[in-house]
Amino acid sequence: MAKPKGELPKINHNYTNINNNNNNTMLLSSSSTRGIRSSFQLLTIILIVLVISVFYFTSQDDGSISSSSSLSPLSSPSLPPSENNEAVVTKEDKIEMMPRERERERERCDYFSGEWVFDNQSYPLYNGRGCSFLSDLLGCEIFGRQDLSYQYWRWQPRHCDLPRFNATALLEKLRNKRLMYVGDSLNRNQWISMTCLVDSTIPPSLKSMENNGSLFTFKAIEYNATIEFYWAPLLVESNADDPFKHRLTERIARTQAIEKHARHWTNADFLVFDSYLWWRVPTMKVLWGSFESPEGIYKDVEKLKGYEMALRTWSDWLEIHVNHSKTQIFWMSMSPTHERSDEWGGVSGPNCYNETQPIKKQEYWGSGSDPSMMRLVEATIEKLSKKGLNINLLNITQLSEYRKDGHLSIHRKQYDTLTKEQLSNPSGYADCFHWCLPGVPDTWNEILYSYIFSSL
Ligand SMILES: *[C@@H]1O[C@H](CO)[C@@H](O)[C@H](O)[C@H]1NC(C)=O
Ligand SMILES: *[C@@H]1O[C@H](CO)[C@@H](O)[C@H](O)[C@H]1NC(C)=O
Ligand SMILES: *[C@@H]1O[C@H](CO)[C@@H](O)[C@H](O)[C@H]1NC(C)=O
Ligand SMILES: *[C@@H]1O[C@H](CO)[C@@H](O)[C@H](O)[C@H]1NC(C)=O
Ligand SMILES: *[C@@H]1O[C@H](CO)[C@@H](O)[C@H](O)[C@H]1NC(C)=O
Ligand SMILES: *[C@@H]1O[C@H](CO)[C@@H](O)[C@H](O)[C@H]1NC(C)=O
Ligand SMILES: *[C@@H]1O[C@H](CO)[C@@H](O)[C@H](O)[C@H]1NC(C)=O
Repeated sequence: MAKPKGELPKINHNYTNINNNNNNTMLLSSSSTRGIRSSFQLLTIILIVLVISVFYFTSQDDGSISSSSSLSPLSSPSLPPSENNEAVVTKEDKIEMMPRERERERERCDYFSGEWVFDNQSYPLYNGRGCSFLSDLLGCEIFGRQDLSYQYWRWQPRHCDLPRFNATALLEKLRNKRLMYVGDSLNRNQWISMTCLVDSTIPPSLKSMENNGSLFTFKAIEYNATIEFYWAPLLVESNADDPFKHRLTERIARTQAIEKHARHWTNADFLVFDSYLWWRVPTMKVLWGSFESPEGIYKDVEKLKGYEMALRTWSDWLEIHVNHSKTQIFWMSMSPTHERSDEWGGVSGPNCYNETQPIKKQEYWGSGSDPSMMRLVEATIEKLSKKGLNINLLNITQLSEYRKDGHLSIHRKQYDTLTKEQLSNPSGYADCFHWCLPGVPDTWNEILYSYIFSSL
C-alpha cells in the first residue's frame, strides 16, 4: 500500500465518482481501480474487526466477571476509564478529567482480586494492645483470643501492590479536613481501625475523642484533622438511630427521610458510606410520616424494595447537597458474614467459631452476601456517575469472604452475663459479623488510603 502521499486525495475523489458515475470507472486505469477497490475492502475489513472487538470487550465487561480477566478496568464503575474508554468521553469532559484520570490510572489497579499472604514481618500495622480505642469491643486479643495468626495476613492484589500505609502522610493529607464514615457497626469497625492506624503517631495530648449524639469525632489537633463516624445504620431515618440502644424486635425505616442525618455530612471532605446488614430482613416496615405523629402510615415492603428506596433518597441527597469538586465519596460494599461453616466445609463448629485459617478456595462466596443488593448499589452509583457525581465503590466483599478466621467470635465484650448453658456452647453466641482488630478492616482502610492519595 506504499502510495505517494499526493495521490490520496485524488483517489478519494475518484472513489466518490465511482459511486456517482459508473462511466468514469471505465476511464480510470485498471491498476488504480484495483487499488481503490482493495483499499476499500481493507477499510471494510478493519471496520468489521473493530466493531467485533469493541463488542467483544464491552460484553465481557458487562457480563459477570470472567475467570481470569480480573484486571478489567470496568469491573467497577468507579474506577478510572482506561485508554479505550477515553475515546467515548466527550470533549469538554476530556479536557477537565484527563490529567486526573491519567494520574489515577497509573497509580491504581484492581485492588479487589488477589490473595491473602501470610506476612508476620510487616503485619499487623499496629499493636492490638496498644490502641486506646479498642478496649470497648473489637480488640479480640484483649478479650482472650489466643491464636493471633489472623493479624498476620497481608492482602496481595493480583497485579500490583497496595501502597504501604503511612499515618503521617495521611494526617498531612487530612490537614484542615474531615474524613467521615457513615453507616452501621461495620463502618464503625472500619472507623476504629483507622483511628488505630494513626493513633501511635500522635502523642496523647494532641488528640481527642468526642461523642455527641450519633456523631463520634476523633481529632488530630496538630493537624486540625478529624476522622469521624456517624451512626446511621440504614442511612435514612429509622427506629435504630440511637447509637447505643438499637436492639429491636422490629425495624422501621423512613425511607424518604435523610436530612436529619445528612446535614452532619455536608462539609466533609471524604465520605465513606456503608449500609447492608440491617436490611437483611424478609420485609422492612416503611413509615410515611414522622415517628412522633400518630398519623404515620406503615407499610411492609420487600427488603430489596426498601433498600432501593433508601438508596434513591441517599443518592438524591448527594446529588443536590454535595460539592462535587470538594468531596470525595466512597461506598464500602457488603461486609460478609461467616455463620454457616457447611458452606466452606468447616469441621470445628457450626460457624466462624474456632476458625483460625482463611478460606483458600478461589472466589469463595457465602450465602451471607446478597448479590442482588450489590447490584442495586452498583446501579445507583452508575446513575450518579452519569450525572457527573463519581462514587468510588470499594468492592471489599470478595477479599473479606476468604477471612472466616477474622471475626470477633466469642472474643468480645458481652453485654449480658452469659448463662451456664450458653458458656457450654460457645458457638451459640459467637459474633461472625464484626472483625477483630488489627485485622480485615485495616486492609479496607489501606485500600481507602490508596484511593485518597491517587486523587488530586
Ligand atoms: C464486586 O466484586 C464482585 C465479586 O468479585 C463482583 O461480582 C462484582 O461484579 C464487583 N462489582 C463491581 C462493580 O466491580
Ligand atoms: C513468623 O512466622 C514464622 C513461621 O510461622 C515463624 O517461624 C517466625 O518466628 C515468625 N516471626 C515472627 C516475628 O513472629
Ligand atoms: C511517611 O510520610 C511522611 C510525610 O509524607 C514522610 O516524611 C515519611 O518519610 C514517610 N515514611 C515512610 C516510612 O515512608
Ligand atoms: C480546621 O478544619 C476545619 C474543617 O474540618 C476548617 O473548617 C477550619 O477552617 C480549620 N481551621 C483552621 C484554623 O484552618
Ligand atoms: C451536639 O450537636 C448539636 C447539634 O447536633 C449541637 O447543637 C451541640 O452544640 C453539640 N454539642 C456539643 C457539646 O458539641
Ligand atoms: C466547592 O468546592 C470548591 C473546592 O473546595 C470551592 O472552590 C467551591 O467554592 C465550592 N463550591 C461551592 C458552591 O461551595
Ligand atoms: C477448636 O479447633 C481445634 C482444631 O482446629 C480443636 O482441636 C479444638 O478442640 C476446637 N475447640 C473447641 C472448643 O471446639
